[in-house]
Amino acid sequence: MIDKLGALQARITAALDGVKNLKELDDLEVAELGRKSEFMLALKGLGELPPEQRRSVGQKANEIKTALAASFGVRRQELRSASLGALAEEEWIDITAPGIRPPAGHVHLTNQAIDEITDIFSRIGFYRYRHPEADWDWYAFEALNMPPDHPARDEWETFFVDAPVHPRLGRMVLTPHTSSGQVREMERRGLPIRMIGISKCYRRQMDVSHVPMFHQFEGLLIDHGVSVTHLKGVLDHFARTYFGPERKTRLRPFHFRFTEPSFEVDISCGICLGTGRLKDGAKCRLCKDGWLELGGAGMIHPNVLSAGKIDPEEWGGFAFGWGVERTMMMRSGLQIPDIREIYKNDLRFLSQF
Ligand code: FA5
Repeated sequence: MIDKLGALQARITAALDGVKNLKELDDLEVAELGRKSEFMLALKGLGELPPEQRRSVGQKANEIKTALAASFGVRRQELRSASLGALAEEEWIDITAPGIRPPAGHVHLTNQAIDEITDIFSRIGFYRYRHPEADWDWYAFEALNMPPDHPARDEWETFFVDAPVHPRLGRMVLTPHTSSGQVREMERRGLPIRMIGISKCYRRQMDVSHVPMFHQFEGLLIDHGVSVTHLKGVLDHFARTYFGPERKTRLRPFHFRFTEPSFEVDISCGICLGTGRLKDGAKCRLCKDGWLELGGAGMIHPNVLSAGKIDPEEWGGFAFGWGVERTMMMRSGLQIPDIREIYKNDLRFLSQF
């Protein structure tokens, strides 16, 4: 039996020398030392030997088996080192070559606009403030001179929150406009006020120029002797700084419950420069008559000042509220044709800005 195992050992050792890679080595190991291999079957014959021989033959057989396992181990190590050497030859890295820069992200275009708008107003003494995204009906409507069930509220297509009703402040809503911050600010801060509030707003609207979540910026100035000319001056400052020195604003009479008088604010079109016609005489594609609508504005209604515990006989002020997305769309000309693109998170679109 020992002769047989010795002969097998010689055969396997010779075969080991001829193995060229790890796969061949594994195959050889299964074939020669696997459960059904000739070597293992020969070992099973141990049980049939007379007891006096079994011990010494078993010891010898075991030595052969251990020696073979060691030979496989050594060969495996040799092949591994050889394959690593080959890999190093094939795949060497030039560590002095310049690296590939990972693509860097950037601030979302809405946030870029918010930073820019904040900066423009802070240069003329306005401070930035944020109001709650979910607020009470009182701040969103009632304090703004819109009693419950007033038809003017329909304009704001509001999301109501399924939350307990406050005994004094009413139902909870997702703020439909930043004007919800007006009376909050009157309560929070002493006079005079010069605030630029920028927050998320929500309305049940969705089309090419409406999204259900958008941002507004709200200017609120309360002081002594404030008139419409101050409002116009602030609006012109913004238009010239944000859109370009050639741009101007126009106030059109309008109606909001919380301002009196109220206006819609237009800006001269950047494509046709306020003429409504292009150089070749064709009608401008961006505007109708040379003007684009920016948002609402007006002188604060005395009832709103009273709701904020401010004496309307002594103090006055103005407010304006515009959509951040629409404002930046106007500056981009025709580059953002659909407001919904801004929130689709398509990097091919966003990385242009
Ligand atoms: C208001 O929300 C008033 N609070 C504005 C105001 C403030 C008037 C202070 C007077 C004094 P309006 O509903 O028109 O007004 O909205 C103002 C601007 O918000 C719009 O001109 C538009 O730019 C933007 N806007 C309104 N709804 C959406 C919407 N669903 N998606 C994107 N932008 C919107």
